[in-house]
Amino acid sequence: ATPVIVAIDGPSGTGKSSTSKAVAAQLGLSYLDTGAQYRAITWWMVTNGIDTADPFAIASAAGKPEIVSGTDPEKPAITVDGLDVAGPIREQDVTSKVSAVSAVPEVRARITELQRAIAGSAVTGIVVEGRDIGTTVLPDADLKVFLTASPEARAARRSGELEGADLHATREALVKRDAADSSRKTSPLAKADDAVEVDTTDLTLQQVIECVVTLVEEKR
Ligand code: C5P
Repeated sequence: ATPVIVAIDGPSGTGKSSTSKAVAAQLGLSYLDTGAQYRAITWWMVTNGIDTADPFAIASAAGKPEIVSGTDPEKPAITVDGLDVAGPIREQDVTSKVSAVSAVPEVRARITELQRAIAGSAVTGIVVEGRDIGTTVLPDADLKVFLTASPEARAARRSGELEGADLHATREALVKRDAADSSRKTSPLAKADDAVEVDTTDLTLQQVIECVVTLVEEKR
């Protein structure tokens, strides 16, 4: 069988990661978290004192860090220059700066190239989650899913994941990040014309997983 390529896009807090990992594990496919790659390059910029408000500084440093992603859905891994950064890339400082870094075309070109290489070498297939996978990275994907949910539902899910998070502040930060991701010039967060939109507001995670698994099986 030819490898099956699944693109899952959408804003934060829609259950993209949980859904993508579970679908990949259930169907024996590889998994790639592209948000983790953008977080990793942002972490490197912050750690190396690059001014993340300066697009020129970001552009000229974009080629420096070596980012390696694991593709096992049961244990997603990410390293920068050989260092495990799975923890630090989730910190608030990185989260607040990642939209600015990922808007820089040189950063996107670099990360997109990595993503295409990883997807191209997946033997059984891969589930790739992000913001621009169906529109830009893998426009020929066999299945494109666009997950949505109300801002309230998304903020509630995110603050459930973060210890001691304040619901209002989480919602504000989330809305701000989505607005930045949707309005940037280079491959913004957008639904591909041929993507299947799934509104997860009133669905359980299990229901969303089943829905996507069924969609993949229809394509196989
Ligand atoms: O998915 P996650 O919330 O970890 O993504 C972090 C950030 O990485 C997003 O807010 C966005 O700025 C950027 N991103 C992107 N393109 C992708 C995936 C993530 O620009 N394909």
